[in-house]
Amino acid sequence: MSIVITNIGELVTNPGHGRDRLGIVYDAALVVEDGTVAWVGASAQAPDADERIDAEGAAVLPGFVDSHAHLVFAGDRAAEFGARMAGEPYTGGGIRTTVAATREAGDDQLRRATGRLVTEMRRQGTTTIEIKSGYGLDVEHEARSLRIAAEFTTETTFLGAHVVPAEYRDDPWKYVALVSGPMLNAARPYAKWIDVFCDRGAFDEDQARTVLAAGKDAGLGLRLHGNQLGPGPGVRLAVEMGAASVDHCTHLTDADVDALASTVFDCMCGDGGWSSTVATLLPGAEFSTRSPYPDARRLLDAGVTVALATDCNPGSSYTSSMSFCIALAVREMRMTPAEAVWAATAGGARALRRDDVGRLSVGARADLMILDAPSYLHLAYRPGVPLIRTVLHDGVPQ
Ligand code: NIG
Ligand code: FE
Repeated sequence: MSIVITNIGELVTNPGHGRDRLGIVYDAALVVEDGTVAWVGASAQAPDADERIDAEGAAVLPGFVDSHAHLVFAGDRAAEFGARMAGEPYTGGGIRTTVAATREAGDDQLRRATGRLVTEMRRQGTTTIEIKSGYGLDVEHEARSLRIAAEFTTETTFLGAHVVPAEYRDDPWKYVALVSGPMLNAARPYAKWIDVFCDRGAFDEDQARTVLAAGKDAGLGLRLHGNQLGPGPGVRLAVEMGAASVDHCTHLTDADVDALASTVFDCMCGDGGWSSTVATLLPGAEFSTRSPYPDARRLLDAGVTVALATDCNPGSSYTSSMSFCIALAVREMRMTPAEAVWAATAGGARALRRDDVGRLSVGARADLMILDAPSYLHLAYRPGVPLIRTVLHDGVPQ
């Protein structure tokens, strides 16, 4: 089954590693065959296909790659958000409220809640989604969360080390041993990645290192939540351990930026390079916790690869909209629209160490969106407006 999309006013291809080089082809067409991009060229030269979609001059982009989301949970924390907007600080303590609700929920209820968010994301142009556990925090419920996550994505992340649950408050190392042993074993069949929240009120550097080392030994890739609530060891630990990504990066010292920059390697293709540890910025969290935004410019100027993701979760960032994150990144984090769109597509792919998504050249997966706008610029220029007209996932119109 093949589809040709013609009359694309502006086709974003993301050809390489240049963080603002979107590789735009004007007046383009693109052919999809069996779920992959089979041809890209001038609209006037478009070959025939089984189906034809006329983009009518609109922009076409790779589907968003949301490389950081917590979608397996029950209930919400709207009241906590309301209190925060009235002056309460965010501490991460509310995670335990969601843990209690999630443990109580039945499997089908949890599956439906996760599925609803996945559908919401797809409609808004997201075609690759990472999903974390982290609201079970015991062996049974962490394994269950990952089993459900794996029904929706291959990018599943074990986050047993989200916070220390109430029952282990007096002995956090006992909980670290549980996460690194029996819980990891139960999660392992469903997980591709392991993550740890290394921050104030969560896990300290030694605890986080212990969890990540156990995950690495079990064959999982590493990710880390760090430097969200204050400066700390998270970023440097992520670099030391070879994590694919360190996420939040709200409070960075010069040494943190240098550590991330030290992981940059040049691809020798005349297109710059990328950092093997990506800095994933989550502006939805700063928005929803009324915190200062991270300074993306500082990272970009140091050569660090930046990804943007939603952090969708019921506590610190209950948005599923990558377009909203792009608009925040441009307005508040000193990113250009091109850098932000790259970070939300190719940058997310780098954070997941994927090269089949986040770009639209021959051989890539046919994950893409047709905008209701002539240019990618409109994603930041028209914040809050639903601009995603059509989404193709694996070559199939959604
Ligand atoms: O990424 N920082 C830790 N975890 C989530 C928040 C989870 C919650 O508040 O429920 C985050 O922001
Ligand atoms: Fe998170």
